[in-house]
Amino acid sequence: MEKELYLIGNFKMNFTKSDIIPYLKKIKKLAKNTNNHVGICVPYPYLCYAKKYLNHSNVLYGAQNLHYKESGAFTGEVSAEMLNDFNCDMVIIGHSERRNYYNETDDSVNLKVLKALSSNIVPIICVGESELEREKNETFKVIDNQIKKALKDVKVEDLSSVIFAYEPIWAIGTGKTATSEQAEEVISHIKKYICKLYKLKSTDLIVVLYGGSMNEKNATELLKMPSIDGGLIGGACLNLEKFGVIFNTKIND
Ligand code: PGA
Repeated sequence: MEKELYLIGNFKMNFTKSDIIPYLKKIKKLAKNTNNHVGICVPYPYLCYAKKYLNHSNVLYGAQNLHYKESGAFTGEVSAEMLNDFNCDMVIIGHSERRNYYNETDDSVNLKVLKALSSNIVPIICVGESELEREKNETFKVIDNQIKKALKDVKVEDLSSVIFAYEPIWAIGTGKTATSEQAEEVISHIKKYICKLYKLKSTDLIVVLYGGSMNEKNATELLKMPSIDGGLIGGACLNLEKFGVIFNTKIND
């Protein structure tokens, strides 16, 4: 049986209107016959184009952040209700760039996760350790803590509407990919930890992606690992030829 994979592109702060419209038209065609779940998270201003070109297509789309309040005096912020106006399927929450540059905390990540779930938007919860934390052998401790806090008050029945992304900070945008064994080790640990938290018997419903310098050359190696359900792809998703190779990866279980 073919493994069900999720390949989600994170545009970060890249592209302008003249890049994005041809991209959307092309990805819609390229992803038409793939059996994988393909998605892109675009900058807020381009959600209108994502809706226009990708609504009812094979390509899921969403944003890279949201605010957990419904409305109010929060200059520069965007609410889940606003994302729903564009029929967003998903939203990235707690990306390490937001944790590092914009003071995103485990508590705000948790509020955002709850808000996304109550708004029927799939949260893609990012967790990952720094290089120093890995060197100090603290990877599991750091990740368990991030996951536990992100999932506070999340009900067991909502777990199947959550996607997790393990993104070691030292591998993001650095070209330094985690080895498939390193990624597998942490992702299988994440699945077991969530099972323990929720007293689940099986890890089947838990989806965990790997993110950090995944590209068209190393994707198969990573995606064939038993616990890895897909990838969150930054740099390589900007080039549709590369992203196309990644999202057409076929792995037999
Ligand atoms: P990268 O980014 O693929 O460019 O390393 C991944 C991410 O930050 O989600």
